[in-house]
Amino acid sequence: MRSHYCGQITPALLGQEIKLAGWVHRRRDHGGVIFVDLRDREGLVQVVIAPEQKAAFAIAESLRSEFVVQVHGKVRRRPDGTVNKHLTTGEIEVAADQLVLLNRSEPLPFPIDDEYHEVGEETRLHYRYLDIRRPEMLARLKMRAQIARYLRHYLDEQGFIDVETPFLTRATPEGARDYLVPSRTRPGSFFALPQSPQQFKQLLMMSGIDRYYQIVKCFRDEDLRADRQPEFTQLDIETSFLDENEIQNMMEEMIRGLFKEVLNVSLPKPFPRLTYAEAMRRFASDKPDLRIPLELVDIADLLKTVDFKVFADPANDAQSRVVALNIPGGAAMSRKEIDAYTQYVAQFGARGLAYIKINAEGKEGLQSPILKFLPDEVVTAIMERTQAKVGDLIFFGADKAGIVNDALGALRVKIGHDRNLVEEGWTILWVLDFPMFEKGEGRLSACHHPFTAPKTDSVEELMKDPQHMLARAYDMVLNGSEMGGGSVRINDSAMQKAVFNILNISDEQADEKFGHLLTAMRLGCPPHGGLAFGLDRIVMLMTGASSIRDVIAFPKTQTASCPLMDAPAPVEPEQLIDLGIRVVQPNTKSS
Ligand code: AMO
Ligand code: AMP
Repeated sequence: MRSHYCGQITPALLGQEIKLAGWVHRRRDHGGVIFVDLRDREGLVQVVIAPEQKAAFAIAESLRSEFVVQVHGKVRRRPDGTVNKHLTTGEIEVAADQLVLLNRSEPLPFPIDDEYHEVGEETRLHYRYLDIRRPEMLARLKMRAQIARYLRHYLDEQGFIDVETPFLTRATPEGARDYLVPSRTRPGSFFALPQSPQQFKQLLMMSGIDRYYQIVKCFRDEDLRADRQPEFTQLDIETSFLDENEIQNMMEEMIRGLFKEVLNVSLPKPFPRLTYAEAMRRFASDKPDLRIPLELVDIADLLKTVDFKVFADPANDAQSRVVALNIPGGAAMSRKEIDAYTQYVAQFGARGLAYIKINAEGKEGLQSPILKFLPDEVVTAIMERTQAKVGDLIFFGADKAGIVNDALGALRVKIGHDRNLVEEGWTILWVLDFPMFEKGEGRLSACHHPFTAPKTDSVEELMKDPQHMLARAYDMVLNGSEMGGGSVRINDSAMQKAVFNILNISDEQADEKFGHLLTAMRLGCPPHGGLAFGLDRIVMLMTGASSIRDVIAFPKTQTASCPLMDAPAPVEPEQLIDLGIRVVQPNTKSS
């Protein structure tokens, strides 16, 4: 049916007879001659049908947008003055002598051109197959395939073996809610879809696979955001006999190669490394966006004795933080803007957002609701430490460390974007030395996951002060987004049980849930470690898409549904009977 793609017709083919097949993008009648812009996945080409080609002309007259046609014709140069510089095929056209109508199309619910911006996302997802006809969407899916191809190739070259792991499995703790699948053969029992292949890939190391990878779907029933989907794709990797440095170096090389190949971007060698503690101190984030040149400065030591409880109380409390954030040029902010930022930080639990504006030199030049509470020498010391200058504004956060970090970390990023401070380009780094555990609702939970090795081989040392124990974990962060993360794993069953105990999982529960892993650890378990990249996130960052949904062919909406297939959906009563399931409708508040 076809000799070339539409978008590939260039002057190199002048005079040649070709066959094309595609969609009518637009039809124009011009004084007896009909022009058809024919479109396929590689682009557009102009097809000209003259009235002398009687049969073809009759068909051309009936064409409407999105009709599917086949064209036979000759490539010729466009007449002077009609060249279109915006098209790769803009210098030529195809003079048709045969036209075959392959299929008609009803008028589309939205046009396949630049006006799509007006189309709501729900409609785009309902007609996703039409949405993907747009060049922008096609380009993203092509780049996604190119990225996956590069990554596979790199790992194949390095001796990694692609192994598939099951989807019907048991819950594995990555911190989100599970998607459950009822079992018919064991009524009342459920499979869980994997949140990641974590345990299987570790077991493969115990099998001696040595180097494993998989491009694999993971399932997490969590609250969705612009960079999260309930089913998403990981590039999942595990290795034996490599330490964290060797794993990081190999992964860096892969990502550097990927950026060079796909975007012709040179990333630094080596990637900068930042400890978790330093990232939190300077940027109040474990995935700092280093394109934003704003840093937090701790000032608790300056405020221990001031007569302002809002600052003095947290300044004297080890669990709290008092920080300043200098905004160059911020003195020009209006009261309204400052109020809006105060409201913004309130959603993270901040009870206020004190500030000092530096309008001019000297004490009289300062403007602030808290000046009356602060001695002159304290103000001077704050100015010095933050290096604030005339024209700047300093924001303050004072509260429990968690609140200050959430609020001021987010404020730093928001102000960076609002004030156009985000530098061009790519900033990538490793964040290292995460804590093993974090405290939530009174008890400890795993910062990464419970299989992560602590920075000690001694169970005794771990038990002494688990809260302050660091993990052999690492995250790769690109432009403020967590691309991937992993760790060296525990390979000793006593250490694994100790970690479970700290997480409030008793030995009996551990044997019931993780007996397979604990047993395998006693049957010749090599030192091992790895990581997983969020493939969708990598593609989103590399294509410049603003949502993860724009780089997934058939994504879910914000409410975790699929408008195209109308999923999830109720099922037949017989299916439920087979599964031994009765549905209780949560239709009233009291029920
Ligand atoms: P983690 O939970 O950090 O680690 O996930 C690894 C990477 O997967 C991506 N990611 C997501 N992408 C889209 N939507 C989501 N809901 C989503 N959740 C996570 C992120 C993240 O960095 N088993 C461990 C890895 C390991 O230790 O080897 C794991 O899954 O980019
Ligand atoms: P107040 O004395 O409560 O009116 O607060 C004086 C200033 O301190 C106001 O600008 C508040 O926004 C600010 N403020 C109050 N609580 C905090 C806090 N926890 N952190 C930072 N600023 C605060």
